[in-house]
Amino acid sequence: MKVLVTGGAGFIGSRVVRTLLAQSHTVVNVDKLTYAADLSSLEDVAGHAAYRFERVDICNAEALAEVFAQYTPDAVIHLAAESHVDRSIDGPAAFVQTNLVGTYTLLQAARTHWTSLPSNQRDLFRFVNVSTDEVFGSLPPDGWFTPQSAYDPNSPYSATKAGADHLVRAWHATFNLPTLTTNCSNNFGPFQFPEKLIPVVILNALEGNPLPVYGAGENIRDWLYVDDHAEALLATLKRGVPGETYLVGARNPRRNIDVVRALCAIVDELAPSQAIGKRETLIHFVSDRPGHDFRYAIDATATEKALGWRPKHPFEVALRATVAWYLENQSWCKRIAGRSGRERMGLGAPRS
Ligand SMILES: NC(=O)c1ccc[n+]([C@@H]2O[C@H](COP(=O)([O-])OP(=O)(O)OC[C@H]3O[C@@H](n4cnc5c(N)ncnc54)[C@H](O)[C@@H]3O)[C@@H](O)[C@H]2O)c1
Repeated sequence: MKVLVTGGAGFIGSRVVRTLLAQSHTVVNVDKLTYAADLSSLEDVAGHAAYRFERVDICNAEALAEVFAQYTPDAVIHLAAESHVDRSIDGPAAFVQTNLVGTYTLLQAARTHWTSLPSNQRDLFRFVNVSTDEVFGSLPPDGWFTPQSAYDPNSPYSATKAGADHLVRAWHATFNLPTLTTNCSNNFGPFQFPEKLIPVVILNALEGNPLPVYGAGENIRDWLYVDDHAEALLATLKRGVPGETYLVGARNPRRNIDVVRALCAIVDELAPSQAIGKRETLIHFVSDRPGHDFRYAIDATATEKALGWRPKHPFEVALRATVAWYLENQSWCKRIAGRSGRERMGLGAPRS
């Protein structure tokens, strides 16, 4: 397949691009290159004969039309987004623009392209919309998100992702565009921009900086290794049914404080420092994120049955591999350090 990937220079997108190429697909990576993107994440495939990059904003209808006309893709995997909850609290405008207006603009461009295809290609065309479990809001101490869970987003980020999901669903119901949506849990792994919990903790622990934990650290996130997520997206592309929604998770709900402690122990072991001492002593609790969802947990049973997909990477093993990757790839970390989001954000100081 020739797959147009949006947001392919980001954390999950770059993994999806590499997985597609490894499985002999052709990839057109459409990315605006925001602060969160880095083309060096794709250095290993930049010269691949089946890979093309187009620096395009998904809000730009004209540029998107040109990309669709030039490459005539068989499918779209839509990952481009503003993705950090804390930034959405301080500056929601970019989230409304990219996540809502951008998704709408992309849907229209895909629809125009899809309508122009011969009927056999039109039947096979797919638009996979990559969303989040955060659209379902917060869970109490027990229970799981299922495909029947109601939308109940709480942050500007999750509200714009929820809106995008509704647009995608409507483009299927109204125009028959063969769309599918995946809602996945928190990802982690190599190349994640150091504004999200796991890379922030690894890099601060390594350098002996304070390790701020929101609230009492009791909030629970359900963790998914990025390689498993990329495989789930390919399975959705190949075996998913248009109009359906697939919940993607690996049954790894963990309290934030437990994840931070586990990371401290791994950093101590892989990069011991007498000067810094035990990294756990760097942990300190800071005021909570406004509207902080208490708990997420995904029941992926239906997705596993429907797509024949299963996560392969045990959480503890993948967490250790992730720490090792950040330790071994300090040049990548230093390259993006100037744009880093390791400072506290999301307390609601308005930016735009
Ligand atoms: N990271 C997670 O834990 C997680 C969990 C669930 C869902 N998701 C979803 O997965 C997708 C990818 O997440 P990520 O963590 O890789 O994000 P990321 O922030 O690392 O990457 C986003 C990419 O989108 C690009 N982009 C942003 N605005 C754009 C625009 N207007 N036009 C074109 N490109 C644009 C950026 O340049 C960047 O390369 C997002 O849709 C996100 O909502 C992420």
